[in-house]
Amino acid sequence: MVSKKLSELLNSQLNFEFYSAFVYLGMAAAAEELDYPGFSNWLQIQFREEQQHALKFFSFLTDKEIAVIVDAIPKPKSEYSSIEEIFTEVLTHEEEVTRRIYQIADLAQKDKEHSVSSLLQIFINEQVEEEVTVRTLLKKLRRAKDDVRAMLLLDQEASSRVFTENPLFTK
Ligand SMILES: [Fe+2]
Ligand SMILES: [Fe+2]
Repeated sequence: MVSKKLSELLNSQLNFEFYSAFVYLGMAAAAEELDYPGFSNWLQIQFREEQQHALKFFSFLTDKEIAVIVDAIPKPKSEYSSIEEIFTEVLTHEEEVTRRIYQIADLAQKDKEHSVSSLLQIFINEQVEEEVTVRTLLKKLRRAKDDVRAMLLLDQEASSRVFTENPLFTK
């Protein structure tokens, strides 16, 4: 039986994944304002991925017959002065997600709630990937700095990202 505290943490993580989605959509809007449609595309895909993460928690909770509570989503920031600023915050945000996932994983382990541990393992692996991708991109952005041509090339690269359903997150 999943404890009340663990259920609450899972529920709040479901809502935090939706919040993450909105943070990225706000960033996509900012990228459009900055005239970088490729980075906007990248961030819109991130928006869709985060919603998938939220729904993974949704189906887990309902499978366990735990009532899902959908919260109001705080207004995300939508003003950024550069693409580098956006991706610096993407990394900070993902590190915060990782911290939260670990916190839930700690409790799942303490409670010996293996089904939750197993669910979270997918997210733990996902966070490694997410952080690596963003760190790599951020390094390229910092290297490109004010070089317009290099920035346009990176924007083009980001425009080629496509959304794929990750079977680990769909049921
Ligand atoms: Fe996520
Ligand atoms: Fe994420």
